[in-house]
Order: sequence, then structure tokens, then C-alpha cells
Amino acid sequence: MNLLDGKIVSEHLLNQVSQNIQKFSKERPPHLAIIMIGNHPASETYVNAKIKTCEKYGIKGSLYHFPETISEKKLLQEIQILNEYSEIDGIIVQLPLPKHISENQVIETISPHKDVDGFHPVNIGRMSKNLTSLLPATPGGILELLKYYQIETVGKHCVVIGRSNIVGTPMSILMSRNAYPGNCTVTLCHTKTKNLDFFTKNADIIIIAAGQPELLKGNMVKEGVVVIDVGIHRVTDNTKKTGFRLTGDVEFDSVAPKCSYITPVPGGVGPMTIAVLLKNTCQVWLQKFQNQ
Ligand code: GUN
Repeated sequence: MNLLDGKIVSEHLLNQVSQNIQKFSKERPPHLAIIMIGNHPASETYVNAKIKTCEKYGIKGSLYHFPETISEKKLLQEIQILNEYSEIDGIIVQLPLPKHISENQVIETISPHKDVDGFHPVNIGRMSKNLTSLLPATPGGILELLKYYQIETVGKHCVVIGRSNIVGTPMSILMSRNAYPGNCTVTLCHTKTKNLDFFTKNADIIIIAAGQPELLKGNMVKEGVVVIDVGIHRVTDNTKKTGFRLTGDVEFDSVAPKCSYITPVPGGVGPMTIAVLLKNTCQVWLQKFQNQ
């Protein structure tokens, strides 16, 4: 069993980002605008980590923090202002949003050229057609992990568990594209799937973003499988000083011995997400100077 180490691969990717920034060091640095609504605790943690990583690698990160009560109309106006501001390269709106704001409206208001989360229908459409696009960060990060470890994907059966717009759905498209990584036969499982283990037992690659702690167990997978765990959960553990431990959507101790490769939690997919967000921001910025 080999670990797919997201810390190593994300640092490798971020060093490339940093080198690209240095090539155009006479220009202004890349600039990412992060919009956050309200005080969702997990979102605060993610947003702080994004801004800190930006600063570490020479990207300007600006936080636009609005109260929970902001109207949808006002938020859309704020996004339009950032769309028009030429010195901002990338815009993301941290999800989830309060219930009175439509996620689709928000995503479709962000200019597809600045949509460094890769969630806009234009970017999803271009991705589906295998055209150049800004890739959603978590699925893009998983591709980078598979590439770094040179994992064979052609003709493999890839089972994706979870059909969210952020991870499962784009992941299933990416793994079925005529590309590397890709060219898999893909099965997309979700909450209405019956006999999940029928599919997982026949999988060469499992990518799980189900949002359920330790859903995937050792008796549900075959020998030699590659497992990518997108989940991260705090579960009670009285043997720890803190009273909790972090776990994923995979029961690591029973699944890992059967795997050829598996991502740890934490330290697998997590660090890759921020790295791809910064890579996307740098990609938008670079296009401005490379075309001069
Ligand atoms: N919330 C959880 N994951 C993400 C992500 O990748 N982007 C944004 N904007 N919000 C998220």
C-alpha cells in the first residue's frame, strides 16, 4: 500500500505557481478575491487557509466579508463590481450560502474568465468538451495526485461516490474524458444507489465524496484498488487528548491494507484543493501577460 501524499504534491504544484509568478515579477502580483457571507465556522477556517496560502506564494488575497443578511441583489452587484475590476484575476464565493441566496445565480454572475473555482456553466461545459477551462479545485487536485504518482487510468473502472456540483459530478466527467488522467469507465453512485458494494467491489479506482464518515469499509473493495477520500470529519475519540480525531469517508484501517494507493485524511486531497485554486488564479493572471 502506498500513500498519495497531498502535502508533497501540493507543494510541488505551488512551487511551480511561485516560479511562474517570478517570471513576471515586474508586473503586479496575481490577485484573488474571496467573498464570504456570514460566519459559517468551517468556511472561516477554509477562507483563512486560502488567504494564508496566497500570501505565502506571492498571490494577493482579498477578503470581502458580508453579513448573513446581505440581499441576493446586493451580493450580485458586488460580484459585478469585482468582475469589472481589471486588477482582480480570480473571484470565488465561499459555499455554502445562506438559504435566501441562490447558489446558481451567484455562480452564473461571476465572469467565467475569473471563475477560479471552475463552477460556472461555461467552465463546466468547456471541461466536458475537453477544451481548456478553469477546473474545479478539488477534482483538479485529484487529477494532479493521479498524475504525480503516474497511476494508470485507461480502461479502468472508476466509481465516483457523491454527485455534488463541487466534487462528484465534475469528477465523473473528468475521469471519463479522452485524456490522462481519464479514459475510465465511470460509474457515478449517490444517495439513491442500491447495493453500493456491488459497484465498489468491481472498482479499480474509487473516488468518494459522500459526506459520511467511514462509509467505505474493507469488505467493500477488491485487492489493488486505488482509493481517493475527499471526506473530512471530526469524530469523537476518547483515547485522544482533544476528545476527537479526523477521519474521512473511508474506514482507513480496514480499506488501506487492500489498496495499491490510498489518500490519508488529513494530508491527502485537502491540501490539493487550495493548490489548484492558486494555480487557476495564476493561470488567469499569466494569460494577461503572455498575450502582450
Ligand atoms: N465550499 C466547499 N468547497 C468549496 C470550494 O471548492 N469552493 C467554494 N467556493 N466553496 C466551497
